[in-house]
Amino acid sequence: MIRVRAPATTANLGPGFDSLGMALELYLQVEAEFSQSGIEIVFSGVRDRSIMESPQENLLYKAMNFVFKQARYSPSGLYIEIDNDIPIGKGLGSSAAAIVAGMFTANRLIGDRFLPAELLRWAVKMEGHADNIVPSITGGLAVAMICEGEVYYQQVKPGSQLGVVVAVPDFILPTEQSRAVLPQNISLQAAVTNLQRACFLLASLQNGDFSNLARAMDDIIYQPLRKVFIPGFDQILHSALEAGALGVALSGAGPSILAFTAIGKERDIGQVMEKAFNEVGVSVQILCLKPDLQGVQYY
Ligand code: HSE
Repeated sequence: MIRVRAPATTANLGPGFDSLGMALELYLQVEAEFSQSGIEIVFSGVRDRSIMESPQENLLYKAMNFVFKQARYSPSGLYIEIDNDIPIGKGLGSSAAAIVAGMFTANRLIGDRFLPAELLRWAVKMEGHADNIVPSITGGLAVAMICEGEVYYQQVKPGSQLGVVVAVPDFILPTEQSRAVLPQNISLQAAVTNLQRACFLLASLQNGDFSNLARAMDDIIYQPLRKVFIPGFDQILHSALEAGALGVALSGAGPSILAFTAIGKERDIGQVMEKAFNEVGVSVQILCLKPDLQGVQYY
């Protein structure tokens, strides 16, 4: 039996749209082995029931199949157990984790025929964005750069004193819907402002200097457009910052909201975010997490 776990991720971190992502200690785990015939997928943990109907529609299985096809290998049967703690459709990289876990599982099943770099390239192609895939593979904070179709990345280890709170609303926001409001063009001034903030944020996290994260995480390009999908967005951010959050942003394409905190402040800030969401009639799950530093793992 092959066992693989891939972490959830939070992408963008405010100004790092499609560029920055951080792995979180929240996992999708898979166990798989070849069987005599057929495809059996068993689920536990958080799941979207629609993905249970047909194995062929399951993203993790599709990712496995992609790797088998590249190896020109056709298994006679597969048994797959998926234990997923990552909320689906909430901006926490559940699809990236499924693709990463699927590809690494399949590759191990066929004797590690491909290098991790090859799996990373295929996974980014399948997902369409690199900012969740790369940190799910590397762990930590990752900067992804795509040049002429190739993926380049750098991994940075965020300071160990960083707490993470994610408020996960009870509704789903499909990434396509969230991307539909993105602007076609932006001004030079907006680009420069976000560039400054993204660079500042990255350096702050690398140096463990969290004193100006709130300013650095204040995206001005897409968050003001996406917030229409999240009731009470401004008030939730304001409340979290008032309560002492170091910085707050939409997690990936949303609808979850991410707050960085000092260690030990996670619960207090989570409560404030929950209250602010509840005040606009939205129920949330509060996750108090840490950055994951390992990325995808065989265990
Ligand atoms: N960066 C993407 C977006 C989400 O904000 O649409 C994650 O790939």
